[in-house]
Amino acid sequence: MGEKRHRIDLQKVPNHIAVIMDGNGRWAKGKGMQRIFGHRNALTAIRETADTASEIGVKFVTLYAFSTENWSRPKLEVDALMSLLVSTLKKELPDFQRKNVRVNAIGNIDNLPKNAQKILATVIEETKNNTKITLTFALSYGAREEIVNAIKNISKKVVNNQLDIEKIDEKIINNHLYTFNLPNVDLLIRTSGEQRISNFLLWQIAYAELYFTDILWPDFRREHLFDAVIDYQNRERRFGKTSEQIEINE
Ligand code: FPP
Repeated sequence: MGEKRHRIDLQKVPNHIAVIMDGNGRWAKGKGMQRIFGHRNALTAIRETADTASEIGVKFVTLYAFSTENWSRPKLEVDALMSLLVSTLKKELPDFQRKNVRVNAIGNIDNLPKNAQKILATVIEETKNNTKITLTFALSYGAREEIVNAIKNISKKVVNNQLDIEKIDEKIINNHLYTFNLPNVDLLIRTSGEQRISNFLLWQIAYAELYFTDILWPDFRREHLFDAVIDYQNRERRFGKTSEQIEINE
């Protein structure tokens, strides 16, 4: 398998790639190991995805690291995932600085263990002026919960006469989502062969291209990201318009 990078049109890279990192458990099981072994081996894939995306000019990468539903996994696995999160953030901070990565988080962060909240706040604060790429971790994230939360906050403003009901539009809703500081998703990747959205970024993927691959997340490498981007670039994004209208505007 040769380097596929030269097949990528650097003028048309997706601005925002979101990833559902699926298949860690199956990857570990296939090796006769515990599920957490798969999660530990997911870190290389995360690093390589962020580095490669940054290298080709992607400005935003958002990773589904822990869903609201994941809290119902066995306590041992939840604890292991949380401690992996803490140790990884600690260990990677110097690299985030060196690589000019801004770290961000979305989700119900208040639900995370205190030590995870603390290190997350530190890493977000210390990297806030970095400009090469924004790496967002979705943690205790669920898109429906995010929308409920937005509706509550908007409603409070209406009740307090801070907002006129007639002024509620898509922009106002965007501004009340956890992703208020992120652009729409252009490309959504899900690994491990499952073809579902699983309550990830429902509002933000309205016009995203969806890309599914059988690769299990711990095996995901730069070549696989290139495959996804090449596939994305071969599609025609029409945003509801006709092909002719798109050609005229190009
Ligand atoms: C999906 O695989 C993966 C997760 C639910 C967790 C993803 C978390 C990480 C990659 C590590 C978190 C740490 C940081 C630093 C963000 P699965 O367990 O659902 O796999 P399966 O479908 O094969 O069971």
